[in-house]
Amino acid sequence: MRVLMVGDIVGKPGRTAFLQVVNRLKAEDRIDFVIANGENSAAGRGPTLEMAQSILNMGADVVTLGDHTWDSKEMVAGIDLEPRIIRPSNFSKGAPGKGWVRVDTPEGELVVIQLIGRVFMQPNYDCPFQEADKLLNGNLNFGKVIFVDMHGEASSERMAMGRYLDGRVSAVVGTHTHCQTSDERIFPGGTAYLTDLGMTGPQDSILGREVEPVVKKFLTGVPHKFDVAKNNPTLEGAVIDVDMKTGKAHSIERIRIAL
Ligand SMILES: [Fe+2]
Ligand SMILES: [Fe+2]
Repeated sequence: MRVLMVGDIVGKPGRTAFLQVVNRLKAEDRIDFVIANGENSAAGRGPTLEMAQSILNMGADVVTLGDHTWDSKEMVAGIDLEPRIIRPSNFSKGAPGKGWVRVDTPEGELVVIQLIGRVFMQPNYDCPFQEADKLLNGNLNFGKVIFVDMHGEASSERMAMGRYLDGRVSAVVGTHTHCQTSDERIFPGGTAYLTDLGMTGPQDSILGREVEPVVKKFLTGVPHKFDVAKNNPTLEGAVIDVDMKTGKAHSIERIRIAL
């Protein structure tokens, strides 16, 4: 089973790149299942429930979010209506929504979990490592095929999660920083790993935003409006080929496809 994991979709250029590239990969029979990070899909901010659902309609099987999960009040109110839209599992207890989902596919059952790091992020998230243990050692019967989106700023924390879960899940990949890393590998226990999937959005930008206002902000310290850039929409992510019987990854291929 070949699972495409897609880096943070940013604004309209990101949604356009996602729609076109995913449908091309499906038409070429190169992918079987799609997990997409949608935390910046609404003009760079967290999507409404309706917009996240539109990413499902465009070809995603599961949408993950991140620190932008609660940017829209519609998502706060509606996330429980759609189990295929998940937020980090180590958000505070009592937060709406869920941090994992179990999906039936023609090739068998698959679980997607999202976690969020604490280094250079909000320190009040619950511990993502203890949360992973709780989910994987609990009585949820997740089976063997488990994909983890580790949303975080620090490479070290994401890599530590990859190593910590090696042999217990099929893949741990990072999202959030919008800069694709080139450290894809299969760890000794059979877990595929990549520190950051990258960004699905306008490449002629600073992390998806227009260059000039971001540079100006650094030069002057004065707040500026950071509009989503437009040019060179590109999908970044990785395709992980997983053995559905053992849950081990055969391969991980990093991808970057421009429109
Ligand atoms: Fe994020
Ligand atoms: Fe992001």
